Amino acid sequence: MDFLMFQLIQESKTPLYEQLYRAIKEAIINGTIEEGIKLPSKRKLADYLAVSQTTIEFAYSQLVAEGFISSEPRRGYFVQSLEELAIIEQNSPSIMQEENNISSFSIEFSPGKIDTDSFPFATWRKYAKDIVNDENKDLLQLGHPQGDYGLRQQISSYLFQSRGVKSTPEQIILGSGTEQIMPLIIHLLGDKAVYGFENPGYPLTHHLFFKDSRKSVPIPVDDDGIVVAKLEQTFANVMYVTPSHQFPTGAVLSATRRSQLLAWAYQQDNRYIIEDDYDSEFRYTGKPIPALQGIDQNERVIYLSTFSKSLMPSLRIAYAVLPKSLLLQYKQRFSYYSATVPRMDQHILANFMEDGYFAKHLNKMRKIYKRKLEIITKTIMQYEPTVTISGEQAGMHILLTIHTTKTETELVNRAKQADIRIYGLQEYISSELEEKAVPKLVLGFGGLKVEEVASSIHQLMHALEITKTL
Ligand SMILES: Cc1ncc(COP(=O)(O)O)c(C=O)c1O
Repeated sequence: MDFLMFQLIQESKTPLYEQLYRAIKEAIINGTIEEGIKLPSKRKLADYLAVSQTTIEFAYSQLVAEGFISSEPRRGYFVQSLEELAIIEQNSPSIMQEENNISSFSIEFSPGKIDTDSFPFATWRKYAKDIVNDENKDLLQLGHPQGDYGLRQQISSYLFQSRGVKSTPEQIILGSGTEQIMPLIIHLLGDKAVYGFENPGYPLTHHLFFKDSRKSVPIPVDDDGIVVAKLEQTFANVMYVTPSHQFPTGAVLSATRRSQLLAWAYQQDNRYIIEDDYDSEFRYTGKPIPALQGIDQNERVIYLSTFSKSLMPSLRIAYAVLPKSLLLQYKQRFSYYSATVPRMDQHILANFMEDGYFAKHLNKMRKIYKRKLEIITKTIMQYEPTVTISGEQAGMHILLTIHTTKTETELVNRAKQADIRIYGLQEYISSELEEKAVPKLVLGFGGLKVEEVASSIHQLMHALEITKTL
């Protein structure tokens, strides 16, 4: 390192050397200057900052004395490892964990986690190797704004076969996650739109519709999904729904409600349904339920899905199927935006799908998640009727209803004290906390290892002071 830019204030009451010492110390603590880095020589830094060498000398000496840097004869000053410093020991690991989104809990029932043990690394690596190749120089250039045609073609045929979604590749738009596509759709639907969103629901929608002060109304959810009768009483003209497996209650939108919802959309020209079909690949009981988009006769469903559950959340590939009525507007207004998904990833995925590995992976994962769910159901049976399960038809999370005198917050906190992270249903509700409501816990099981599922549930029950009934 030859330079270090710090603004030292000559007029300040704090001496220059102290200002410099503090600035370097802070940069070391927050990681801007990393361990092992050689600091500029005293002469160079003095020249650069236009101060005397004595100022630098004093600042460096103080940092040496406190162990932040070491002075090595004839080599210079080097930033030290911070591990031994008490101040850093307290803060640094948790900050790093937060930065890397690493859980600090020993058991994590997160609805956002997938099974990482079963990912076909070798196959994925082969496709990645084939793509990262100088025969594919073209992939270094920007591709189609909606995403490359090959992947859109694969998605279109997959959607038709597995979800009954009718689309052409031209109607598909790729984006780096549902969270990136949703604002785009909101933009497309214009400022006049009034949104209905599920309550409880996906936190992203609360932020997008409610907290960002868009015109929006929460629509209640019961065992049959959203209560369409309530929607009909509002001014909403766009309804966001997760009909195949409501997030987070797990309810499946009943056939009657599906027809009601479509009928609601058909009543006015400007009404749309945003169907988020995020985890429908994993359905464990009964016949597969086709997507609403497939039964829509009037181009009123904007279909959304993601590879976050089916492959991995870090891939950041989601997609929307726009009704033809909105496609032209989209092309006119958005085609100057570049695709947000790296082209190499698009091609790896397209080839993976084309060669049948995606379907194979889904079949394998369905069995694994089903197995986990069976273990959960069997284990929870031992605690019935204090604890009951719902939302277990699909996906990677279920809902536990706990019949207890304790509140939901108390239960979540008790779990935390036992180093277990579980999510209270209230965390997904956009209105005030209802402390009197029967506690419900959202239990994600995707990330648990099969062999740990039963013991994790028993540990949770122990932490919640719920005893076995069987
Ligand atoms: C309801 C819902 N939609 C979509 C997603 C996926 O979002 P993304 O595609 O941004 O990972 C999730 C979470 O995994 C979800 O719970």
